[in-house]
Amino acid sequence: MSKSKIIFAALCSLGGGFLWAAAPALSRREIDAKFPADVGPDTIDVSGYPAHHQDSYEFFRHACSVCHSPARALHSSLRTYDQWNRYVRRMHVRAQEQLLTPEDSRRLVDFLVYDSRQRKIKNKKAFDVLQGQIHKRFEEVQMEKARLRKKTKQAAQEPAPYTGAR
Ligand code: HEC
Repeated sequence: MSKSKIIFAALCSLGGGFLWAAAPALSRREIDAKFPADVGPDTIDVSGYPAHHQDSYEFFRHACSVCHSPARALHSSLRTYDQWNRYVRRMHVRAQEQLLTPEDSRRLVDFLVYDSRQRKIKNKKAFDVLQGQIHKRFEEVQMEKARLRKKTKQAAQEPAPYTGAR
């Protein structure tokens, strides 16, 4: 192979790599995502939080991941006490059973309000940047899902290949 051919081949494979990077495969969580928040990171760094809130965070990750990723709550726009209080109640109604004792609910609401103040209010700039990234990724995921649905439908409409059985 000539030198220029080798360079050309190397560039082609690089190009392929870039294309691959532009359309990364969807994760299980992305496929299931119903809200933009669902595609965001599903953990946060609570190492700077007071010890009792760090404990509540562990409890939150356990109690609030039964039906959806905890990412849905972590990246939602809810921030105030009233909003969180209402939402934690609403999640109970969804469960159609008493998931949490009143004390557990209070603990969760306290944590969610504290965390919202740290990440969503005091650090609003970083939160807004992350929101932008999350919404963009959610749109990409929706587009990719639509493309895959179309492809599957097309494949289903193609006649089955003749296998020579008759
Ligand atoms: C029994 C299932 C279930 C559990 C447990 C549950 N959720 Fe949800 N959650 C849902 C469903 C279903 C939705 C979407 C429809 C809705 O908003 O009611 C949702 C939506 C949400 C939203 C989206 C709000 C928005 O519009 O952005 C937030 C925030 C949320 N849940 C927080 C929580 C928190 C915090 C907990 C733990 C206390 C929790 N969830 C536990 C079922 C659940």
